[in-house]
Amino acid sequence: MSKEKVVLAYSGGLDTSVAIQWLKEEKNVDVIALAVDVGQERQDLEVVRQKALGIGAIESIVVDVREEYVEEFIAKALKANALYENKYPLVSAMSRPIIVKHLVEAAHKHQAKYIAHGCTGKGNDQVRFEVGIAALDPDLEIMAPVREWDLKTREQEMDYALERGIPVPTTKKSPYSIDDNLWGRAIECGVLEDPWVEPPSDIYTLTADARGHQCDEPEYAELSFEQGLPVALDGEKMSFHEIINRMNELAGKHGFGRIDMIENRLIGVKSREIYEVPGALTLITAHKALEDLCLERDLLHYKLQIEQKWAELVYNGMWYSPLKEALDGFIESTQQLVTGDVRLRFFKGSCVTVGRRSPYSLYDYNLATYDAADTFDHKAAKGFIDLHGLPTKVWARQRRKVGKEGEV
Ligand code: ARG
Repeated sequence: MSKEKVVLAYSGGLDTSVAIQWLKEEKNVDVIALAVDVGQERQDLEVVRQKALGIGAIESIVVDVREEYVEEFIAKALKANALYENKYPLVSAMSRPIIVKHLVEAAHKHQAKYIAHGCTGKGNDQVRFEVGIAALDPDLEIMAPVREWDLKTREQEMDYALERGIPVPTTKKSPYSIDDNLWGRAIECGVLEDPWVEPPSDIYTLTADARGHQCDEPEYAELSFEQGLPVALDGEKMSFHEIINRMNELAGKHGFGRIDMIENRLIGVKSREIYEVPGALTLITAHKALEDLCLERDLLHYKLQIEQKWAELVYNGMWYSPLKEALDGFIESTQQLVTGDVRLRFFKGSCVTVGRRSPYSLYDYNLATYDAADTFDHKAAKGFIDLHGLPTKVWARQRRKVGKEGEV
């Protein structure tokens, strides 16, 4: 009888390389390696593909999903201004659902019974993989070698690899664990595990030190949006993907887009995380500025709450869930008139909105001005305040009556 098959989410790194051999040895399965190009900066993916075959995968696939990632996934994050705990633009949390989608597709294509990932038992990514897979095909089974095996230290893993002829990294391993894609980079481990220690400058690759002298002058950028998505930079039409790259460069050059935070993982652990997200933060800043101009007050305020919930769901691995889908519907309907231009100024680690305009602007000069053009009915304010404040007034009278005046 032929063996059962497993599709392994393969990165080319030591963990998932050892996993190929371990799955064959311990689980007696045929391994199909799948590497997904989500715009990570690392190595040549053809080399990664060959490496999996060299270790003994029966099939090794690389899929370039960058366009789909931008259009179907990042677009939703931007419309949602998604920031977990009001800070983190969900870099890793965004790439997992699209990787999951392609893992499940590959499993169906190759009639695999299992999907495997190289996550540890301590992070969010295992949750994102497994819940996502269950949502797309509840009959697929999961294998999680790194969570199961007894290779406690990296040395043990290296020994395991060397004994079996698995190529091991020849350069000294970076002390950091890095995960990146075209929405940004996440950096953890090493000295960063002490939340009091300032991150060393060598962890950054996308952003310049804002103290540097390469940018002593402010620089401006004008982003144009249509229905919530960027379509042009400085008047030049370009794809969303290209705009992300250009914003990464420009904001990165000015040292904008570093985050140093303590974050609450779903599994209950607080961790110290560093992110480099110049493009993502720039685009969210601009998108929010345009929404401030175009969204009616109640809608804007309500959307702020929805945004928080959306980010939390996606962080917690619920991309493919009915609530997240329903919230997408809400968010999409808010974006119809989010069209216009935003002008940003970058300088010494900052990115600030300095101008915004839209054919759908709700800003009414005649209502807002203190000049002669003022059409706002000042007298109407009195009646409004009387009624708005009426419950407070009633409450205060009652307090006086019972002798508790002045106490809250
Ligand atoms: N803490 C972040 C998250 O859960 C980043 C995880 C990064 N993963 C990694 N292997 N370095 O989304």
